[in-house]
Amino acid sequence: MSEKQHFQDRLLSLGLARVSEAAALASARLIGRGDEKAADQAAVNAMRDQLNLLDIKGVVVIGEGERDEAPMLYIGEEVGTGNGPEVDIALDPLEGTTLTAKDMPNALTVIAMAPRGTLLHAPDVYMEKLAIGPGFKPGTVTMTMSPSERVSALAAAKGVSIEDITVCILERPRHEDLIREVRSTGAAIRLITDGDVAGVMHCAEPEITGIDMYMGSGGAPEGVLAAAALKCMGGQFFGKLLFRNDDERARARKAGITNFDRVYTRDDLVRSDVIFAATGVTSGSLLAGIKREPGCVTLETILMRSKTGSVRRMTYKTPLK
Ligand code: FBP
Repeated sequence: MSEKQHFQDRLLSLGLARVSEAAALASARLIGRGDEKAADQAAVNAMRDQLNLLDIKGVVVIGEGERDEAPMLYIGEEVGTGNGPEVDIALDPLEGTTLTAKDMPNALTVIAMAPRGTLLHAPDVYMEKLAIGPGFKPGTVTMTMSPSERVSALAAAKGVSIEDITVCILERPRHEDLIREVRSTGAAIRLITDGDVAGVMHCAEPEITGIDMYMGSGGAPEGVLAAAALKCMGGQFFGKLLFRNDDERARARKAGITNFDRVYTRDDLVRSDVIFAATGVTSGSLLAGIKREPGCVTLETILMRSKTGSVRRMTYKTPLK
């Protein structure tokens, strides 16, 4: 009988960076070409091929969708060679398909890996999200506070005036009230058109990105990926699933969720050590975008391990085939 293998996050991490790089490389030729589907498909194919080379017994828990709607990297798909530790995989081969198609900032390829059974199987519904960076006491901001109370509380905890706080929010009609309330406090808002994984990650490095807090609703699967990133970079994250109809509640039940009102903390979404890799596709304040020169391409990847808090930024230059 084979012995159960441990999650060797250190050994696996470079392999995970390669997976994320491969997806970005595949989407390189499709940046700014107006074809979201082609860009996404290229990233999915490349990510899956590279993932299947890793010595893991992986199961996709956050992926491209349910099996009947996604032929590849669907939820429940087994990935890896099958020789290695049992792990959960959360991925988004192209987070920001529209950003890529339009060559707008902050499109990323994203993947996280953790021991089996430790990542929340988030259904494909919306999640209300709240995030701040590292260095604040627990309870500094909470989901029960109003948006303006959160802004005041964060400014007080930082020892700055409210005018010095910047909140990142997805620009959507559903966020009109939120945007109005935050503006009424005097805080600044960085509106993004897509890509809330990057939006949340920006909170972890406010001195570089200029963003102090993330608020608003977006995809629940992206919430788990964002929580994995913050678990490595430091920072607080809260998420609450939002349901618009019975079909969405049924999706949640199928994913094993019973308490529909629960506020998940970062560590409820990611219950163990995690490794996280993301590669920049289009330029952003966290990661450089793919740089094309005649005959070659340069990519930047962030590779992180929660166990040690290590954050590596790696540049990869390769001929473009
Ligand atoms: P894609 O990767 O499919 O382009 O999604 C990007 C995204 O902006 C996520 O970052 C975010 O969580 C979600 O879409 C928001 O959903 P909606 O566009 O329905 O508001």
